[in-house]
Amino acid sequence: VFANIVQAPEDPILGVTVAYNKDPSPVKLNLGVGAYRTEEGKPLVLNVVRRAEQLIINDQSRVKEYLPITGMADFNKLSAKLIFGTDSPAIQENRIATVQCLSGTGSLRVGAEFLVKHYHNRTIYIPQPTWGNHPKVFTMAGLSVKSYRYYDPATRGLNFQGLLEDLGSAPSGAIVLLHACAHNPTGVDPTTEQWEHIRQLVRSKGLLPFFDSAYQGFASGSLDTDAQSVRMFVADGGECLAAQSYAKNMGLYGERVGALSIVCRTADVATRVESQLKLVIRPMYSNPPIHGASIVATIFKDRDMYTEWTIELKAMADRIISMRQQLFDALRARGTPGDWSHIVKQIGMFTFTGLNTEQVASMTKEYHIYMTSDGRISMAGLSSRTVPHLADAIHAAVTR
Ligand code: LMR
Repeated sequence: VFANIVQAPEDPILGVTVAYNKDPSPVKLNLGVGAYRTEEGKPLVLNVVRRAEQLIINDQSRVKEYLPITGMADFNKLSAKLIFGTDSPAIQENRIATVQCLSGTGSLRVGAEFLVKHYHNRTIYIPQPTWGNHPKVFTMAGLSVKSYRYYDPATRGLNFQGLLEDLGSAPSGAIVLLHACAHNPTGVDPTTEQWEHIRQLVRSKGLLPFFDSAYQGFASGSLDTDAQSVRMFVADGGECLAAQSYAKNMGLYGERVGALSIVCRTADVATRVESQLKLVIRPMYSNPPIHGASIVATIFKDRDMYTEWTIELKAMADRIISMRQQLFDALRARGTPGDWSHIVKQIGMFTFTGLNTEQVASMTKEYHIYMTSDGRISMAGLSSRTVPHLADAIHAAVTR
């Protein structure tokens, strides 16, 4: 019965790792998936995560019972505080329904499924470009996906005018996906003033903001600064959704730990929203896994561990920033044609290089450098040792 099934293509991001793994070259370099690597090119388990895991393992009172459908209550409360701020009136007024989900993707999917069932408008506007999985998540949930202009290839910066025009002409009530910080793949974020402008437009048009927050702490190194955009929207008392991931900022990629929050106008509405979220989650995966959420909650509940986390997080963010400078300097030293200042201006895990598909293909073929075909490179996968190799490859690609 399955004989006619056609071979599906690899995922545009995760498929890069599949290709990389098959390459026997000793100089190969994976700058595809956004996963942090040390200066030695190794995956990093944060020290504070190891400490938390040790405490969890040693605690004989811990059992392996099912979590509630909505996940671990402490984890949810602390996750809301992390993104909305400890003194957020919306938290104090119990106006937020937060549920533990399977990292950022799972949180987006649960949010989208909820909107399809309970929100009157099924169109979501996503930035052009955006993370490749966004349109798939929303389409599979049953939303209709449209895009708004975001990136300007000419300036390698924000197309603010285009963004305002497109959101300005979106139908009232449409959902708008916003990257809370460190826009993926471009590394281009609005300024605080631009965010304020966007907020006014979104609110005046009655659009529903849905934030994807996958990089809190990774853009600037400060958890508060990177949540500023979300907090501006919550401060005006209006509704929004926020999907959080702990993959990058706590290095918990494979633990699949994240949260979806829906900010409502009243506590009563939030209670009813949570009850409906349970009906969305139960038939999908029943309830979320314990381990990752236990790590996060253990770290958040202990002041020393929380501080240690912020220090380790800042160190990761700083290393990425230093990679930007080193790559920029290496291209300048080679006299590589072009203005590469966007490498140091863009923020977060990725640089949107401006290299085209053919140039990327030639870098993979000749230099064994793996990256997504849109020219995005994960700065977190780079090290001082590999910068010269990448700079050589970019130089060759743009001068051939
Ligand atoms: C990425 O964009 O590389 C990450 O968000 C990982 C993923 O799942 O695509």
